[in-house]
Amino acid sequence: MIRTISIARKESYPLIVGANLERDLLISIKDIHANRVAIISDVTVAALHGKTLLRLLKSSGVPNDLITFPSGEKNKNQTTVTKMQNVLFKKRYGRDSLIIALGGGVVGDVAGFVAATYLRGVPYLQLPTSLLAMVDSSIGGKVGVDTLYGKNTIGAFYQPHAVLMELNFLAKLPRVQVINGLLEAIKTFFTSDKSGLANAVRINLSQPLKTKTVLQKVIWQSIQVKSSIAERDEKEENERRVLNFGHTIGHALEFLSDYRLPHGFAVGYGMLAESKISELLGILPTKDFYFLKNYLAHFDVTSEPMEKFLSSAIIKSTKGDKKTEDGHPHYVLLEKIGKVYTKNGQYAHPVPDAVVKKAIQSLLLK
Ligand SMILES: NC(=O)c1ccc[n+]([C@@H]2O[C@H](COP(=O)([O-])OP(=O)(O)OC[C@H]3O[C@@H](n4cnc5c(N)ncnc54)[C@H](O)[C@@H]3O)[C@@H](O)[C@H]2O)c1
Repeated sequence: MIRTISIARKESYPLIVGANLERDLLISIKDIHANRVAIISDVTVAALHGKTLLRLLKSSGVPNDLITFPSGEKNKNQTTVTKMQNVLFKKRYGRDSLIIALGGGVVGDVAGFVAATYLRGVPYLQLPTSLLAMVDSSIGGKVGVDTLYGKNTIGAFYQPHAVLMELNFLAKLPRVQVINGLLEAIKTFFTSDKSGLANAVRINLSQPLKTKTVLQKVIWQSIQVKSSIAERDEKEENERRVLNFGHTIGHALEFLSDYRLPHGFAVGYGMLAESKISELLGILPTKDFYFLKNYLAHFDVTSEPMEKFLSSAIIKSTKGDKKTEDGHPHYVLLEKIGKVYTKNGQYAHPVPDAVVKKAIQSLLLK
């Protein structure tokens, strides 16, 4: 399955979903006319898939290296970016190089940012290996890292030359990472395409390839929505903000957990809290809030993990979020399942602290 994404009418590139995409990968590499290829990956993914990719590239005759960094969100930072750039300098990679991001969302964000900044920008390909990266992070060109001041606070918009989503990568993805990824797709479905929700619950969470057809459909539906929105609003000036549903609270939870809480789960708890806020504000019907709450429970998202954090700490942490304007964090609110609330053409809104506090506390009551 191939969809072409056109950003700002000047850059267009393919998003390819399927199994055994080796040929498509070699074609994409050839299209770029690079003289050297640097594969950037984390140690977990490199151990699983690095050698196979190196063998494939060797057969294409283009010199290549595999460069790795330790896995996990904790390593999505400026230190890792500098280390990766220094390896490229030491190996004398020039502007005729290509970077391949082989990994989950962390690798995609780091390698994409390295590509955006190395020698003022070299081309890159996204080879997402986690479900989260396939349904969300590899699409749309947002790249960057976390800092002491918050998630994704240093970065760029830098589009890849192609995104190849190889379903076979998902064979050994742990159940928790399957759910982690599905939650980002579910977020997209709650805001923009409720028909995806019926498919997402049909996926085998322990062995997703056993439900390959429906898995591919869910990835495809998520891609369609995300890429259409990114085409209309690349720089997140307004509409792209819908994809931040669950993220204002979600990013705060990730930060407070010292990034131990996987991103998709943080967004899952964030969706729960932000839909409660929508209900308290009289925007989302109560029956829709309960639908969302019961639906998320199927994916192990309940309010229990939020008990670890004080509502005051969550609220304080939201103030450092990128979506803050004039010191007020902004929230994407749901109007109904599959549709976000807009006012005066805006997709994200300030919410009084008292309402946020009430929402979090009401979720924690047994
Ligand atoms: N750029 C964007 O638009 C965007 C959108 C959404 C999320 N994100 C970012 O994505 C990141 C989360 O992505 P993630 O959940 O993929 O995290 P991740 O990259 O840390 O991957 C999760 C874990 O799964 C492992 N893994 C990856 N592929 C695997 C495979 N095929 N088999 C076995 N293990 C595998 C990784 O090594 C890691 O330990 C966050 O940093 C988030 O901010 C970015």
